[in-house]
Amino acid sequence: MEGEQPPIGTLLNLDEIEDLATRTMSKKAWAYYYSASDDKISKRRNTEAFRDIALRPKVFVDCTKCDLTTDLVGNRVSIPIYVSPAAMARLGHPSGEAGIAEACRSFGALQIISNNASMTPEQIVADAAPDQAFGWQLYVQNDRTKSERMIARINKLSAIKFVALTLDSPVTGKREDDERSGNIINTLTDSSSGEEHVDNADTQSVVSQTEDQTFNGLDPALTWTETLGWLAKHTHLPVVLKGIQTHEDAYIAAKYTPQVKGIILSNHGGRSLDTAPPAVHTLLEIRKYCPEVFESLDVWIDGGIKRGTDVVKALCLGARGVGIGRAALWGLGAGGVAGVKRTLESMNGEAVITERHSADISLQF
Ligand code: LAC
Repeated sequence: MEGEQPPIGTLLNLDEIEDLATRTMSKKAWAYYYSASDDKISKRRNTEAFRDIALRPKVFVDCTKCDLTTDLVGNRVSIPIYVSPAAMARLGHPSGEAGIAEACRSFGALQIISNNASMTPEQIVADAAPDQAFGWQLYVQNDRTKSERMIARINKLSAIKFVALTLDSPVTGKREDDERSGNIINTLTDSSSGEEHVDNADTQSVVSQTEDQTFNGLDPALTWTETLGWLAKHTHLPVVLKGIQTHEDAYIAAKYTPQVKGIILSNHGGRSLDTAPPAVHTLLEIRKYCPEVFESLDVWIDGGIKRGTDVVKALCLGARGVGIGRAALWGLGAGGVAGVKRTLESMNGEAVITERHSADISLQF
């Protein structure tokens, strides 16, 4: 019945959680999360590419040792599913990124904090478990001193284990759902913004604090040697490069160990350059052309992952970590912390069912 919300525990999968969030959230907030660039081809293909791969389970293989525990850049996690950096979680629910952290804590999952989070990193990690791991996303600013000040703060937070340097969105994509809905980013402005985040759950504050950083100050001049050299001067934290979209770049990244400890294959959820390849295609390229990369670096993947079968396919292809961005936000929108927990529970449960089908699964393309 319209207006009546189903209890979060009755939602069976990520699509059902997204449906509820869609009905619950404001149109503008929904549009910001949902939107992707141009015709949303990359966004759509991100999911379709996983569905196009068939699982080939071998039978008569002992499955009693099914275990999804892993290490992500050296940090022990209970599940390979992590939360990708996605901006402005408080648009989904007042508990925001700290709510995501709470959900991750109960699953032993890693979370990458968005550069454009709606809470400070200090607030987000405040209630972290002693062994809970976070990364922090860096969008390098034109005014490097702004980035340097943020990095100095991150260096002081022991829960943050690495910097996820973001390379897949040097400019914001043309997001028409967002524009159509009045564009929450461009219509809500407040000149008080800056790197100091405000603790206020209303939409205008959530947006204003991020706008300068995200959309008006990205440095377009990043390069392998200059930017990694600069970063090394400001932090000893390992670096994970987010937004690798070709095997050529994966190969180059592997030359930057030990500073670079991982790469995330990502097209920014299809939000940046439309028709950029689904990350799972990049994963296949790496296997074909430079499989040695898997020996040097953690390879993680995000974009369009919605089912446990997608998670297991990524793992079968050599990924160690599998990121969900929008899905965590939809979880928040649908039911706050309980909604994010339901998201992780649902996806992890499906991954366990998939693994229990066979300890020897290969893939068919
Ligand atoms: C986005 C930026 C903030 O995709 O990463 O909206």
